Amino acid sequence: MSAPKINVQAISSGILSDDVLMLGEPLMKKSKIPAGQPLTLQFGSFRHPVTVVPVPRYEGLRISQTLFRRMGLHTGVTLRLQYRAQTRTLSLGPLIGVLVSREYPAQPDKPFGDITMFCRELTDACRKQGAYVYFFTPAALGSSQAAVEGWVYNEGWHRMVLPVPNVVNNRLTTRKLENLPDVQQFMREINVRYGSRVFNEKFLDKSEVFEALKKDPGLQRYLPESHSLHNFAMFRSMCTRYPSVFLKPVRGSLGKGIIRITQTGAESWQASYATVNGTRKLTFSSLPKLYASISGKMKSVRYLIQQGLSLIEIGGRPVDFRALTQKNADGEWTVTSVVSRTAGNDHFVSNLARGGTLSKAREAIAKSNLPVLYRGDASARLHRAALDIARGIDTYIPAHFGELGIDLAIDTAGRIWLLEVNSKPSKNDNTPLTEGKIRPSVRMMIQYARFLSGF
Ligand SMILES: Nc1ncnc2c1ncn2[C@@H]1O[C@H](COP(=O)(O)OP(=O)(O)O)[C@@H](O)[C@H]1O
Ligand SMILES: [Mg+2]
Repeated sequence: MSAPKINVQAISSGILSDDVLMLGEPLMKKSKIPAGQPLTLQFGSFRHPVTVVPVPRYEGLRISQTLFRRMGLHTGVTLRLQYRAQTRTLSLGPLIGVLVSREYPAQPDKPFGDITMFCRELTDACRKQGAYVYFFTPAALGSSQAAVEGWVYNEGWHRMVLPVPNVVNNRLTTRKLENLPDVQQFMREINVRYGSRVFNEKFLDKSEVFEALKKDPGLQRYLPESHSLHNFAMFRSMCTRYPSVFLKPVRGSLGKGIIRITQTGAESWQASYATVNGTRKLTFSSLPKLYASISGKMKSVRYLIQQGLSLIEIGGRPVDFRALTQKNADGEWTVTSVVSRTAGNDHFVSNLARGGTLSKAREAIAKSNLPVLYRGDASARLHRAALDIARGIDTYIPAHFGELGIDLAIDTAGRIWLLEVNSKPSKNDNTPLTEGKIRPSVRMMIQYARFLSGF
């Protein structure tokens, strides 16, 4: 059962003492909150001793202005309230913190650059669900984990000191930021001290994902043969067994640095490189020569070598799919959306950053060369694969995720394959906000945060 929503108001500190809360009597009765007894008020890491005074025929909560400010609140908020008799705590929440890469203090209307509109959308959605959200960056984290300097939106952006949140959504866009000692220590310490939960804890690495999922017999059918590339024997074995193979930087994204290798004749091998402008091709007269050409790069970049698939196509352009899976209000994986991406002209990767175009999965399938026989249940099978894979990541990778972007493919024989899993699926989210419109993915994120924090 979810905690009831309640309107929280500030009362001048001259009228109401900091140690007294005025709470609607009907809710006090319903939640069995005792009047006039010492209780602890909690909001994220904030703790304060209070007593509660019942107010007849009133539905809200009144708090002194001073306390209100110390909690990082602004006027007229709706929050959820929960009373735990065992510990005599009255908790308000959930307090959600979103960890973003950087702020632009010189742009008061857009303090987070391109993702500011997403931050507004999340703020609106939290208000509707009775949650409170703020945004903070690694730069704002000090060595103490007592409070956080963050940004709150309320008719404009305000920077203020806030309690440590119940739930942190990690939306850092680089491994470098994520691995900063202050960030790592913050994520660890707030859990130990306050029981805060962090989700989307870390970036995934492509080798780690395939190694982990191989352990699950139920998932093997989705996995193209994939290995960490260390030596020529492995390289030759893959290149001679499959019509094409893909080399992918294990920490790559956006189609960067991907190389496709195909045999074009008895003594002829072609390497295709995915560049911003299209595909650059080089031909080699032997496999050792091709391998030599990439072994320089292998000193600084680790590669995953993967069986190439013959993806379905639209007008000769490969098509693949991106499923957004999220945990819901019961903490269970669900599929929020599946979209398709068609590669741009002269590209063999379908990433939007490389000229790919987005469309509805069903429409793309209908336009593709997928034989009609396999079309009917293709969407349902993509859905199913995404769920199975998200659950597999949870089972076999020891990190906490609430949201995963799963890249899937359908080959021309109708079979579904996993290409990669992204743990920062909407990291460059700059979707323009249609005023007042809240996307299902944003709503779902808050529902999961409520599940995690017990609100
Ligand atoms: N095994 C494969 N066979 C065919 N095409 C592939 C394969 N792996 C990746 N691709 C193509 O390359 C794109 C990028 O690969 P992906 O593994 O998602 O890496 P990135 O992290 O760069 O997005 C895919 O969206 C797909 O179009
Ligand atoms: Mg991808």
